[in-house]
Amino acid sequence: MNNLVEGLQASLFATSAEHSSSLLVTETPAYTTPYGAAYLGDSREFLAKLPEGSVNLIFTSPPYALHFKKAYGNVDKADYVEWFLAFAREMFRVLADDGSFVLNIGGSYNPKVPTRSLYHFKLLIRLVEEIGFHLAQECFWYNPAKMPVPAEWVTVRRQRIRDSVEYVWWLSKSPFPKADNRQVLRPYGKDMLRLAQRGVRSTVRPSGHAIRSSFDKIDNGGSIPPNVIEDEIPTDMLTLGNNSANDIYTKRCKESGIKIHPARFPAALPEFFVKLLTNEGDVVLDPFAGSNTTGSVAEQLERRWLAVDLVEEYLLASRFRFGGVEGSYSTPERAGLLR
Ligand SMILES: C[S@@+](CC[C@H](N)C(=O)[O-])C[C@H]1O[C@@H](n2cnc3c(N)ncnc32)[C@H](O)[C@@H]1O
Repeated sequence: MNNLVEGLQASLFATSAEHSSSLLVTETPAYTTPYGAAYLGDSREFLAKLPEGSVNLIFTSPPYALHFKKAYGNVDKADYVEWFLAFAREMFRVLADDGSFVLNIGGSYNPKVPTRSLYHFKLLIRLVEEIGFHLAQECFWYNPAKMPVPAEWVTVRRQRIRDSVEYVWWLSKSPFPKADNRQVLRPYGKDMLRLAQRGVRSTVRPSGHAIRSSFDKIDNGGSIPPNVIEDEIPTDMLTLGNNSANDIYTKRCKESGIKIHPARFPAALPEFFVKLLTNEGDVVLDPFAGSNTTGSVAEQLERRWLAVDLVEEYLLASRFRFGGVEGSYSTPERAGLLR
């Protein structure tokens, strides 16, 4: 961080409002909002400075172990688990006893062959057996807009099918993390509404499950969601998909000539888990924040938030998600771009 950034960040720090999570750390944030603070730097160092038990939810998507290196520097598969565990130890420490760590991680192919790597499963096992996390539930992000890759196996030789889910490991510090599925209920589906109209007779299914006549009562406020989280179904997959080309962030990036973050997740993903696992005022941390989708969701839901990213351009552009937030600029050129 150069002095100019530090100076500007220091002035921003003074703008932090009463809720701001920047009060948790002594570092100077790159920007603050009424509920949160975003920091430029290595999250491993940042995590080490956070007090023990101070975070209610860590929601993140780190760089995956891909053999195509992305712009922000993915680690090779062979080294990935060791690399990640160094962060995970600190994550475990900073989580509250009833806190959760939700990790979005994509699968990948082994180099040069049409077989899948086990790296994300190996990571999961070590997070539980070595670091001490509990696997609260394995969830999935259904992303129909994922590219049909590797082209060699999917579109050229036609030997594999399109990959359209990513893993979302919901881990927790204790076996009983704070969670309330009533905070993520969905409207009842047509089948459930029809059932409620017709009524259900008490019966035992061939599977042995007893269906009570109360099964058809739809007075619980909504249906309990499955562990597959979907983005809104795009009306035009080519232009929308996961990339929500029309959202405020991408619009402002394009207007300012700033590179759009290449690996954003949809707001629906953090939104689901922030609602499920936290209450207003709780602290949500994204240590690999990128365009800070997590922070902007937390802000809207009135949770305090902390975000960290290593790349200045991503972090500064992420302010576009917060409208009127004041910025900090490392150079006058950037100031011109970002204003
Ligand atoms: C998959 S992206 C996250 C994208 C984010 N979920 C979003 O919606 O924009 C991973 C991010 O981790 C950042 N990163 C990689 N290593 C890091 C580190 N040691 N500390 C902080 N950020 C890091 C990268 O710069 C990249 O922006």
